[in-house]
Amino acid sequence: MAFRFNFSIDEIEHSEAATPDEVDAQRCTPKRKQESTEKSKQTAGTVADSSPRLGAGEGRDETPPEKKFCFKAAKEHKIPEDLNKVLENKVLETLSGLYYVNMSVVEMMCVHGADAEGIVSKSVSSRSDLIPGVYEGGLKIWECTFDLIDYFSEAEIHFANKTVLDLGCGAGLLGIVALRGKAEKVHFQDYNSTVIDEITLPNVVANCINEGSRMGSGDHRKTSKPPLKRPKKAECSPDALTKCRFFSGEWSKVSELLLSSNEPFLKYDIILTSETIYNPDYYSALHDTLAQLLDKNGRVYLASKVLYFGVGGGIYLFEKFIEEKNVFRSSIVKTIDKGLQRCIMEIAFKDSS
Ligand SMILES: C[S@@+](CC[C@H](N)C(=O)[O-])C[C@H]1O[C@@H](n2cnc3c(N)ncnc32)[C@H](O)[C@@H]1O
Repeated sequence: MAFRFNFSIDEIEHSEAATPDEVDAQRCTPKRKQESTEKSKQTAGTVADSSPRLGAGEGRDETPPEKKFCFKAAKEHKIPEDLNKVLENKVLETLSGLYYVNMSVVEMMCVHGADAEGIVSKSVSSRSDLIPGVYEGGLKIWECTFDLIDYFSEAEIHFANKTVLDLGCGAGLLGIVALRGKAEKVHFQDYNSTVIDEITLPNVVANCINEGSRMGSGDHRKTSKPPLKRPKKAECSPDALTKCRFFSGEWSKVSELLLSSNEPFLKYDIILTSETIYNPDYYSALHDTLAQLLDKNGRVYLASKVLYFGVGGGIYLFEKFIEEKNVFRSSIVKTIDKGLQRCIMEIAFKDSS
């Protein structure tokens, strides 16, 4: 399936019947006029290589958008006792020593009923890999994920004994790398529950049971190994999995859920987030979530394209947003100039050590 940016709000509002959860989400979709369908279309494969299509400021609607928030409810996804079930009907592939489920197979299974949210059919029918407030792109691996994985080795980011959140995780590769780096705990969050159940959780389980595979970096081409049609029987190190928790829902709702839980909540030492700043309408929720969940001396590592054409977000807009809020300091620690410019940003509280 080819994924595309294609923000057509009218299409969303007239799409097929939605679940109650989604009705809420659709109503709160900002009524901002987006780029025309044709202009904003982009294609990408499983590993996303989508590229911005607007120049700086070009094509952006300068009228302030009507600010409304999406409130897709937050939910914790418990790890099933039978781990073999998690990998049922999955085909595994490897990339840089990391295992991940073949997304086309997942999509096929979703069309046949494994997708309570209906995001696969909506994404296909609207020919879009982002439907604001309904589907936020977690069904594929976006290229900045690999920029951030490279950066971890280059900058010698250590995860040992750290508490880590993979925010907007999609496939969850960042969190999996942290888990392999012996993080004390790793939490995964995605907007869509289908993504958590069908992709994130299976990927985490697959990486736990396929011991011997190591975190790699540099060359992100798929290995020549054939896909593992029949994953090994689950012998997952219970240790690694007990360190993990999985959440779906909109950021402010997930934050609320974590902070209101009866279990004591330890703020995160490290928050990892890749390709999550494409939509400026979400900046406030994202910023507040980081502020609520990050430890006072913690660090956020954010990977992003410089500009998301057709959507409007990008690294400089988010940088400016952070500056105006005056809570965090941020610095761009790496720029990747190959093709479309991409960046890694480090964020910390202004008064942190
Ligand atoms: C483009 S995908 C990137 C996925 C993954 N990080 C990667 O790099 O492959 C954006 C992710 O951010 C999450 N996201 C975006 N907006 C969100 C929101 N308002 N609330 C919660 N999650 C959101 C989605 O769940 C999605 O997984």
